[in-house]
Amino acid sequence: MDTHVETSEDSLDREWWTEAVVYQIYPRSFNDSDGDGVGDLSGIVENVAYLDELGVDAVWLSPVYESPGEDNGYDISDYRAIDDQYGELADWERLVECLHDRDIRLIMDLVINHTADEHAWFQRSRAGEEPYDEFYYWREGDPAEPPNNWESIFGGPAWSYDDQREAWYLHVFDESQPDLNWRNPDVRREIADVISWWREKGTDGFRIDAASHISKPEGLPDGDPDTDPTGIAHYSHGPTLDAYLEELTERTLGEAGVMTVAEMGHTTVEQAAEYVASESNGLEMVFQFDHVGIGDSPEDLFDPEASDEWDLTALKDIVTRQQTEIAWPAPFLGNHDLPRAVSLFGDDERYHRESATLLATFLLTLRGTPFVYQGDAIGMHNAEFQHLAEIDDVMTIGRVESLQEAGVIDSREEVRQFVNERSRDHARTPMQWTDGKHAGFTDGSPWLKVNERYTEINVEAARADTHSVLAHYRELIDLRHEWAVLVDGDYELLLPEDEQLYAYRRTLSEETALIVLNWSAEPATFESPVPTDGADAVTGNYTDVPSTPDGTTFRPYEAAIYRL
Ligand code: NOJ
Repeated sequence: MDTHVETSEDSLDREWWTEAVVYQIYPRSFNDSDGDGVGDLSGIVENVAYLDELGVDAVWLSPVYESPGEDNGYDISDYRAIDDQYGELADWERLVECLHDRDIRLIMDLVINHTADEHAWFQRSRAGEEPYDEFYYWREGDPAEPPNNWESIFGGPAWSYDDQREAWYLHVFDESQPDLNWRNPDVRREIADVISWWREKGTDGFRIDAASHISKPEGLPDGDPDTDPTGIAHYSHGPTLDAYLEELTERTLGEAGVMTVAEMGHTTVEQAAEYVASESNGLEMVFQFDHVGIGDSPEDLFDPEASDEWDLTALKDIVTRQQTEIAWPAPFLGNHDLPRAVSLFGDDERYHRESATLLATFLLTLRGTPFVYQGDAIGMHNAEFQHLAEIDDVMTIGRVESLQEAGVIDSREEVRQFVNERSRDHARTPMQWTDGKHAGFTDGSPWLKVNERYTEINVEAARADTHSVLAHYRELIDLRHEWAVLVDGDYELLLPEDEQLYAYRRTLSEETALIVLNWSAEPATFESPVPTDGADAVTGNYTDVPSTPDGTTFRPYEAAIYRL
């Protein structure tokens, strides 16, 4: 099919990221080249051909900087060094070269709300050494009485007492991740220098970790004890956040060609829309999380009675708002902090292939720059954890401990349930390359257990099967590249009240695409509310695509794209 249409956009000098599909790599779990059980940079280099085959335009690399690894790299001890377990700077340079040779750009993770407590800045700060003494939030006072009632996102108080400095320090994540004091201009200058350093080395963009938390209000006031975690309303979207982002933009992020996407938990669609609309904060995109929080927000207290049920009409409502209110959305269905998309939104057993390919169709036909999480392109799904000992994730462990202390959970079964519902390790199990030992991820012992279904779900098997989830991703990424309406077209929701069908139109000039998704395990008939005469079937996730959409009964998790 000739899907290319000349549009006025063709003549514009587009930014590269508007037409990109981005692939997120969680390096610890991607591919281990040296047998130590942990993924590494050379392991990624070995698989750049896989990324190229998939057709992605950029890679977002979760942190590979030097780190004690309490939060798997989201605790940095040296911003300018690569952690030994991932290799060395020369390996990173080789990776950039290999990616760039194939026209794939590299986006680095920027963890700038906090450092590791092993960072030299913190070590000097706790010793009271100038100018580092004011690099973090320190408060003197009674060692039994934290300075305010803020709680950490990872469970427990957001303050820890340091015996060396004889003062409290703030950490909105783990106690090993002290928050940088962004009020201090020296901190802001140091961070800008770090960004310039990576930029000069060839980085094409940045994902700002925990961006919504870097500004805290004057006086650090107590939070409402009924919010979970207490204080989050104060330590999200603080009063000087815009000013800090603007300063970074002026210093470095505003440079032509650099793409910046901000991770913003605890952010409404309205707020995300404002950040993206702003001309001065340097943010091209914001990750807004309402859709992935639809089942059960990861921030809620654990409720063993709560069900995982979610409602398709509510999902449509959220995604439609993201698609229509945010100037340039960043659609995603998974990342390293979330359950696997096919387990959350699909049926990872009976309709594994169908629902994983439906999700691919959804993600890759939305407006904006889609982000594909590693493993989703082969339909990797949640693991089955039996007990806490199988868990590595600092957040799961921290929250289990605080729920146990609060008496919310006590039995082994409740712990097992919590872990399976909430653990970020579902997304972190090793990438499944083959049906061989440890799924071909490592020759050693993997740092986290491999998902049991690797013999069936793996890259090698997917490559050999023309109807695999992988084949579908490749086809859709190609289609997106050649059909501008999927990238830029306006999004219009059809049938908002339908409980099974999620259908929408994308329109650009004279060109219209219609996407029909039967997001259920039962057949569903599409009575089109818009004219579909002469519709051409472009592609679908069953081998025979229904030739016309109107009046067609779509099969379980069937997804089809039409050109109207
Ligand atoms: C968000 C990251 O995605 C997550 O993995 C990390 O634990 C926190 N920020 C703290 O850096």
